[in-house]
Amino acid sequence: MDTLPLYRQLAIHYRQAIDAGTLAPGSRMPSLRALMDRHAVSLSTALQTCRHLERDGYLEARPRSGYFVRQPRRPACEPVSEPAVRLAEPARYVGIQERVTSIIAQGKQYPVQFNLAAASGACELYPAEALKQATIRALRNDPSVLTSSAPPMGSAALRSVLAERALPSRIVLGRDDIIITNGCIEALNLALRAVAQAGDVIAVESPTYYGLLQILEALGMKALEIPSSAQSGISVEALELAAQTYRDIKAVVVVPNFQNPLGAVMPDESKARLVAWCEANAIPLIEDDTYSLLGSTDTPLSAAKAWDRTGNVIHCASLHKTLAPGMRLGWISAGRWHERVAQLKHAQSRAQEVLLQLAVADFMGSSAYERYLRRLRLALRDQREQMIEAVATYFPEGTRLTPPQGGLILWVELPGRASSELLFERAMREGIAIAPGQMFSNSDRFDSCIRLSCGLPYTRELNTAMRTLGSLAAEC
Ligand SMILES: Cc1ncc(COP(=O)(O)O)c(C=O)c1O
Repeated sequence: MDTLPLYRQLAIHYRQAIDAGTLAPGSRMPSLRALMDRHAVSLSTALQTCRHLERDGYLEARPRSGYFVRQPRRPACEPVSEPAVRLAEPARYVGIQERVTSIIAQGKQYPVQFNLAAASGACELYPAEALKQATIRALRNDPSVLTSSAPPMGSAALRSVLAERALPSRIVLGRDDIIITNGCIEALNLALRAVAQAGDVIAVESPTYYGLLQILEALGMKALEIPSSAQSGISVEALELAAQTYRDIKAVVVVPNFQNPLGAVMPDESKARLVAWCEANAIPLIEDDTYSLLGSTDTPLSAAKAWDRTGNVIHCASLHKTLAPGMRLGWISAGRWHERVAQLKHAQSRAQEVLLQLAVADFMGSSAYERYLRRLRLALRDQREQMIEAVATYFPEGTRLTPPQGGLILWVELPGRASSELLFERAMREGIAIAPGQMFSNSDRFDSCIRLSCGLPYTRELNTAMRTLGSLAAEC
């Protein structure tokens, strides 16, 4: 990914100053000369910065007076409704596969121009060239990686780097606590199979990542959907309440940081409380840590695993969203189920292919990785902000959205009894793919919600697509 151009970085900086009220509506933006001096940039960069902010509706140009901060065009959306702490409905066998398959099949009938359905970044956000060079180096150093058998737990070099890179999330692991998997999906599969079996009840967030519901369905397990908030994630109170009524919960699965689809981050106190509650009740906690690194700032978020003192938390993670969607690399640290997971992995799929692991270890071990991550976060923050602004501008009155502080997706609640399925069909006809809310639950509670990806660069064409989507939403 190229560095975000300087003018975009400056535009983000001033947009934050405007959002925070440091530059109030009606006040004068620093002159072009002041911007040049203050940030040591050229006239053209200063001008581009102001034009960019003008295009996004933050500034207006007044003849012979310069740029001024505009009155907000429209108030931001109200946050999505908070769920009540209520008793969860009884656990059910999941019937999501058919729904998801039919949605994907419908999607295939039309050519997709704007894929806002995938929780993934655009290809150009990821470091293809650096990974290519690292792969060539790895192969040159040791061509026998292609012909000798792969280490069962994965490359030691990669596991060492992952253990080191997990430290800022307050996870302390040795490399031998880690097993490399085929994405986080395989890690979740292994975790669930290690602690539960067909017929068992698994507590999950509601709404939740549909891939998790698909796994539960494939394993013949039942999902107990626990109310979850876009502000603070799973309601630990609702989980406790559910456990008093349904006494057979065999595991809890959560995405504590930038939950899919809500974008929620659990406060540290809730993470600690959840870990303690699971431990006290002898219920394994499976943590899916797919998005933690994609926050708006460089300040790392703590994993739930940070509070684990007894090995009761199984930590599953992915490099798919943060580094390389094409490589399908993930990992698991299974605590007290480590041996069981290692056996299951061996029985299920044997070891992962090694060359790409060596390449990733090389790149992730370098300072270039940190610089790349910073650029990725900045680009995603910019894209998220533009998508949030587009929803506020183009979607019908009463649309709700809680701006997430990171991640790749937005959860949007349409007003009234709008049908996300109908919107999905109509948007597909316009070449715009979205993820309808019904994919994220066994119930029909989220039928008027949609999930939108922020993975695409916010171009003029995408802006037009968002305007179209907003008009369609008003008719559904
Ligand atoms: C919460 C969550 N977990 C797991 C996955 C799948 O991860 P992977 O692609 O690494 O298998 C996704 C992908 O969207 C996800 O959103």
